[in-house]
Amino acid sequence: MKILLGICGGIASYKCVDLVSQLRKCGHDIRVVMTHNASKMVSPLALETISKNHVHMNMWNEEEYSKVEHIELATWADVFVVAPASYNFIGKVANGIADDFLTTIFSATTSLKLICPAMNTNMYLNPINQDNMKKLTSYDVNFLEPESGMLACGVMGIGRLPKHETIINAIENLYEDTKGNSNKPLLGVNLLITVGGTIEKIDPARYITNGSSGRMGIEISQEATRLGANVTAIVGNVSVDIPDDLKVIRAYSAKDMLAETLKFNKNADIIIGCAAVSDYRVANYSESKIKKDEKVDKVFLELIKNPDIIKTLANDRSANNKLIIGFSAESDNGMENAKGKLQRKSLDAIVLNDTSYIGSDNNKITFITPTNSKSMTECNKKETARLIVQEIIDLL
Ligand code: C5P
Repeated sequence: MKILLGICGGIASYKCVDLVSQLRKCGHDIRVVMTHNASKMVSPLALETISKNHVHMNMWNEEEYSKVEHIELATWADVFVVAPASYNFIGKVANGIADDFLTTIFSATTSLKLICPAMNTNMYLNPINQDNMKKLTSYDVNFLEPESGMLACGVMGIGRLPKHETIINAIENLYEDTKGNSNKPLLGVNLLITVGGTIEKIDPARYITNGSSGRMGIEISQEATRLGANVTAIVGNVSVDIPDDLKVIRAYSAKDMLAETLKFNKNADIIIGCAAVSDYRVANYSESKIKKDEKVDKVFLELIKNPDIIKTLANDRSANNKLIIGFSAESDNGMENAKGKLQRKSLDAIVLNDTSYIGSDNNKITFITPTNSKSMTECNKKETARLIVQEIIDLL
């Protein structure tokens, strides 16, 4: 997608270097236009380096006076995103003022528009700003509501720029929505997914867990949602941000995760076991914190087998369950082990990956079905999620 990113001079503009980097990682082509105030907060050179494109600020191209750049940029973009958008910017464009490069391009563009306001709470809630946003909404301008929290000015309230993932989702959803349902092959499909590592408690202070950031499961949930699916994510212990718009049920132990999945499995068209579930749990949970005994050098922890969630769901298969898919993180004999699990757990497909990618931004997977296996090249987990969901759509 071709994204034109407009940056106003709010404190949050420093976050844009990372936003541009994330957008590029998702495969989008980014051009940046910023106000002179924004260039005081964040270096145009940094944005130019990350976006790999010239950063625009001035009305007239100083090298080529014959080029009317604002028209060229205004027609280039699929989506024009302004993040952070200031009170001043919103006020100007709502009232037909185009007195700098950013507001001029905004007035000239016919592409999809998304404004992400970020400012002090009182400015955001100011009825003038609210009226301006209403007016722009009536002209088909889209808004992403800011988040609440501690603002740079020390005030607690609404006005923070949303997380990058939330902005990227809003952009991608806006673009997909305009392309119609033909681009939503999972429309109406119920997808149940387990995400993250489980936690098996030893005592109130200690637990055993599996290494898992939850990124792969969250990315699959996001991609499936983008393509129209109703996703229910049963989420254990994760270190990544959970998108606000995802339907999430938290369940930390394997037993709790199984209990939660059993509330949704009958109606699910697709079930994906992406969680790193502990195979064993502590046999005797201690209600009090276990004390160190100076005289004891060795202690033994007795573990008992946990239920296998995905296997239980596959054995409890309903007529709705068209696909039940597992993951297989392996350090040795990957193919052999993954194929064994596919069969033992009665799955329709299994995603093999190497344990060395746990916690990493990247992954390298092999998608295995009873009749086929497809090895993918290494790529980031967002791209991996796209590949996995595409394979799932093909199987459906
Ligand atoms: O047997 P193993 O843990 O390697 O299998 C991995 C697959 O099985 C993953 O899809 C994982 O989510 C699922 N699993 C499960 N319940 C368990 C263990 C694994 O659902 N107790």
